[in-house]
Amino acid sequence: MSNIVEDGKKYSMNTYNRGTMVIEEAKGCYLKDAEGKQYLDMIAGISVCNLGHSHPVVVEAIQQQAERLIHVSNLYWIPQQIELAKLLVENSFADKAFFCNSGGEANEAAIKLARKYSYKKYGEGRNEIIAMTSSFHGRTLATLSVTSNKKYQEGFGPMPGGFKFANFNDIDSVKAEITEKTCAIIVEPVQGEGGVNVANEEFLKQLKDICVEKDILLIFDEIQCGMARTGKLFAYKHFGVEPDIMSLAKALGNGFPIGAVLAIEKVAAAFNPGDHGTTFGGNPLACSAALATLEYMLKEKIWEAVEHKGNYFKEQLQKLVGKYSWVKQTKGKGLMLGLELEIEGAPFVKKMAEEGILINCTAGKVLRFLPPLVVEEKNIQKTTEALDKIFKETDGKGRWT
Ligand SMILES: Cc1ncc(COP(=O)(O)O)c(C=O)c1O
Repeated sequence: MSNIVEDGKKYSMNTYNRGTMVIEEAKGCYLKDAEGKQYLDMIAGISVCNLGHSHPVVVEAIQQQAERLIHVSNLYWIPQQIELAKLLVENSFADKAFFCNSGGEANEAAIKLARKYSYKKYGEGRNEIIAMTSSFHGRTLATLSVTSNKKYQEGFGPMPGGFKFANFNDIDSVKAEITEKTCAIIVEPVQGEGGVNVANEEFLKQLKDICVEKDILLIFDEIQCGMARTGKLFAYKHFGVEPDIMSLAKALGNGFPIGAVLAIEKVAAAFNPGDHGTTFGGNPLACSAALATLEYMLKEKIWEAVEHKGNYFKEQLQKLVGKYSWVKQTKGKGLMLGLELEIEGAPFVKKMAEEGILINCTAGKVLRFLPPLVVEEKNIQKTTEALDKIFKETDGKGRWT
């Protein structure tokens, strides 16, 4: 085990704060480390393994496809890719899909598509995109430009131009940023990295109205909040507002890397051969994994139980808000939940791991819970009891003496 950590420090670029845990296997809601210690996984690869780790339908699909055809280029039609596109289209607002390999890439494609649509219709210069405060859209240069936390941009400048920010859930702030150059607005219906913030329905509705009025494209980033995470197959279905473009990744392949951009017909039509592409995007293996995931979600209507489990989880977390003065509030929707503290959350993540439960902290003070959607009430209870225990062990103000 220690060799892996030592070699990792020696040979891997130092881009992650990994501690010393080495995970070797996982099934359902449980992970096992190299020393055989079992952990309850309440973070699911950061909203990736929504059906639980190594779900049998996904494993079988990958195994069978790997034996037939792993990769072929997009020079040819790929049946699994077309089936996946059809299923996504039939179950969303969209008419067309494009596949890539990650969330960052999906948002890059969304940005390019929005700009191309505007360019074809209005010509040069109408290319500005408005993003929201507390947003997170990825680590590529363009997606960093729409990610509000400036810390992520430091040292990587110059950033690509044409991006602006408005306050999340503040329609007047958005209106103030719109000019004749605005071509799109990008929003996470439930913000993840920015602290698990749910958009107001009224805000999204007003955003949509402005977008329709001014022919501005509305882009929803559902990379973290999509794929049944919030209690609907896609989070936008809660709000009665449909976007023109939507990005997906994370749970789309239940752990197999794949991203997607969905769009309505007139917007999708802005891309012509040669405008965009990627070698691996939508390859047979990735699409088989995603197809198995999506088919299973649809067959089981997996989102229906999510709402119930999410409500139960939130109720249990709410009890901690009442009990500890420094536990500020619960946040989120479905099984995308946060517990906001008045102090730094990182030490609690470490303590929870010692208790055998993996959670995470985002935006400094928000403990984040993104369990596999197959999580059971007893797992939720175990998590909130462990939180109560470690909160109790502090000095009454949430600090260890
Ligand atoms: C909302 C959102 N958008 C985009 C991304 C970037 O996705 P990826 O890490 O797959 O590039 C993330 C990742 O956390 C995300 O949560």
